[in-house]
Amino acid sequence: MTERTLVLIKPDGIQRLLVGRILARYEERGLKLVGLKLLQVDRGLAERHYAVHRDKPFFAGLVEFITSGPLVALAFEGPNAIAVIRAMNGATRPWEAAPGTIRGDFALEVAQNIVHASDGPDTAAAELALWFRPEELVAYPREIDRWVVAPAD
Ligand code: RTP
Ligand code: MG
Repeated sequence: MTERTLVLIKPDGIQRLLVGRILARYEERGLKLVGLKLLQVDRGLAERHYAVHRDKPFFAGLVEFITSGPLVALAFEGPNAIAVIRAMNGATRPWEAAPGTIRGDFALEVAQNIVHASDGPDTAAAELALWFRPEELVAYPREIDRWVVAPAD
């Protein structure tokens, strides 16, 4: 099923100059870029984004970290995009992330784990609406899709 999902390249990814390499991985997989922006997140947006973790002991640190510098928000579309990107990102705890995943290749610590991705259809819809205005998500045809996407999709 064709899905849309949100990816964040967190401030550590920007500071470590990994934006291009991470974006390239999703692109090369065949996922279609439908939204992209660089922004400095304020506390309100950070707290709304991580609202599900409000009561966790790491919440304050998480909000502090995500607001500590600019990040890149991406929207991708493709068959099973939510699961595909979660798998590419790897396990939340980088020491459990398989080599070949983004976290398994670039991260060591759970707080500095480089990327975020929506974890299901409901969170994807809510997070895309939180990070992008409707007109910032762009629908367009891609010539390569006849080589990437099955006709039924
Ligand atoms: P994300 O939301 O960033 O894609 O990561 P995730 O689904 O793999 O992990 P989640 O459970 O949603 O946690 C969100 C982020 O909180 C930080 N975290 N710190 N100190 C800790 O024990 C801890 N646990 C989670 C991580 O940065 C994680 O990505
Ligand atoms: Mg999560």
